[in-house]
Amino acid sequence: MGTETREVRALEQGEGGRVLRLLDQRRLPGEEIWRELREIEPLAEAIETLTVRGAPAIGCAAAAGLAAASFGFAAERDKFDAQVREALERLARTRPTAVNLFVALDELRAVLDGAEPACPVEELQRRFVDAARVHIEKDVAMNRAMGAHGAALLPTGGVLTHCNTGALATGGVGTALGVIRAAHERGTALRVFVDETRPLLQGARLTAWELIQEGIPATLIADNMAGAMMAQGKIAAAIVGADRITRRGDVANKIGTYSVAVLCHHHKIPFFVAAPWTTVDLSLEDGADIPIEQRPADEVRVHGGTLMTPASVDVENPAFDVTPAELITAIITDRGAVAPRRLLELGST
Ligand code: MRU
Repeated sequence: MGTETREVRALEQGEGGRVLRLLDQRRLPGEEIWRELREIEPLAEAIETLTVRGAPAIGCAAAAGLAAASFGFAAERDKFDAQVREALERLARTRPTAVNLFVALDELRAVLDGAEPACPVEELQRRFVDAARVHIEKDVAMNRAMGAHGAALLPTGGVLTHCNTGALATGGVGTALGVIRAAHERGTALRVFVDETRPLLQGARLTAWELIQEGIPATLIADNMAGAMMAQGKIAAAIVGADRITRRGDVANKIGTYSVAVLCHHHKIPFFVAAPWTTVDLSLEDGADIPIEQRPADEVRVHGGTLMTPASVDVENPAFDVTPAELITAIITDRGAVAPRRLLELGST
């Protein structure tokens, strides 16, 4: 393997914003296939099927995809407005847990609500494209800021991560993986232990791939190995991303995150969460209020196209779990890194 690294991206606006290009994450790491989207239904399906996934990336894709699709809407303002509102509703029904989707949709809704009645459709399309571009740029900037705030917190040695929180999960750079990369760049000698992240293997397929692209030392483990690695002293810290954070600092993230936090607590290992401020939902106090997406049973029963279980076995498949604030050492945001109980102090900065 060479030492050359390259920048990974999940999505881009093309043709002056008339098309959204998505790297199909279902096909990684085997194939790098870019898909072009110009309509709402294929965009909604791309989000639902995890063609694009990761809380910030879902928001970026929804914004850029709606902007692109608006070029296919009616030329008369009233019909155009109705189609935009219908599109906003359809996209809001795709995945319920990541709050970043709803933040992005609210930003585009605000563009429509703020437009004067005489504003031509062409001008609105341009404003949507700009709003999506700004949303993506802000996401990248927040991720860089998180890296700056969080890098010094990571110790040398093994750093466990769960799911995928890198450039693929965001507008670029990454959240938890962005912090890991920033620590690596400042010379912290670390090795990333990558949870495979069943059932959809975001760790094994995506995080392992990204870390190899970036030249960061990584070791893949099955999810059920994390406790043994900690008991053997191989893990010095854990860091994960978030799909939604409540006022008291409870964190929804990929299913299995809670188990990692409990293991860290038992082994007295710091457990960090890295997320942009847009992931904090100030309307929710408690983690129990976060809507948790339930996904199809066959994602657990079937692996690589092969049925691995009795076809009729009952299955639970929540996509996310909630880690209570008490198990979190610090939440790293673009505004700074604090203990969860001090999270709201960052809100005024
Ligand atoms: O179901 P996914 O792959 O969209 O879940 C992604 C996660 O849980 C990530 O950890 C989270 O979105 C943070 S990504 C920066």
